[in-house]
Amino acid sequence: MANAKGFTLWFTGLSGAGKSTLADEISRRLHERGIGHEVLDGDVVRTNLSKGLGFSREDRDTNIRRIGFVAELLTRSEIPVITAAISPYRAVREEVRSRIGTHRFIEVYVAAGLDELVRRDVKGLYAKALRGEIANFTGVSDPYEAPESPQIKIDTEVQNVVESADRVWDYLVNHGFITVEEPATV
Ligand code: ADX
Repeated sequence: MANAKGFTLWFTGLSGAGKSTLADEISRRLHERGIGHEVLDGDVVRTNLSKGLGFSREDRDTNIRRIGFVAELLTRSEIPVITAAISPYRAVREEVRSRIGTHRFIEVYVAAGLDELVRRDVKGLYAKALRGEIANFTGVSDPYEAPESPQIKIDTEVQNVVESADRVWDYLVNHGFITVEEPATV
């Protein structure tokens, strides 16, 4: 048996760093333990809630405020939320943190160097951005403001998915966000 209180696990980092993969793994673990929760993934949000928004600073900030707003509602109703958007600007991340409440907002910086991301290039977007075919591409031709003191930092060049998810999971358990009860032995 396990249960959880409301929190927002906010993954931030460059495209391809591993935010969605890690979000999916944490989601899987919560599901396995019967803990209801929601995932707000940048790519998914942009196909519905934020359809039509682009990648100017203004549009990105609007996107993040929308994700933050939904996360705030769910968190305050004790539903765990996992978000996975680049969220490149520190100011709007801090705005969301203060709306949700510092004690329930867990910022996870999912880091990987640009060379590695260009090597991975799962979506083929870095190659295009480097050729100048995508304007304002985060990390190439648009800024990414790394968190200064995230609750958790994951280096996906060093840690694999299971190790990274273990770090996040341990944080949630150690800080009382998730309570795992051992089955009673008879
Ligand atoms: S955010 O900046 O507003 O947080 P979000 O996470 O929703 O970004 O979307 C990022 C995804 O959009 C990337 O993973 C990539 O697939 C796609 N994308 C398309 N154009 C850009 C761009 N100019 N910069 C970054 N990502 C882009």
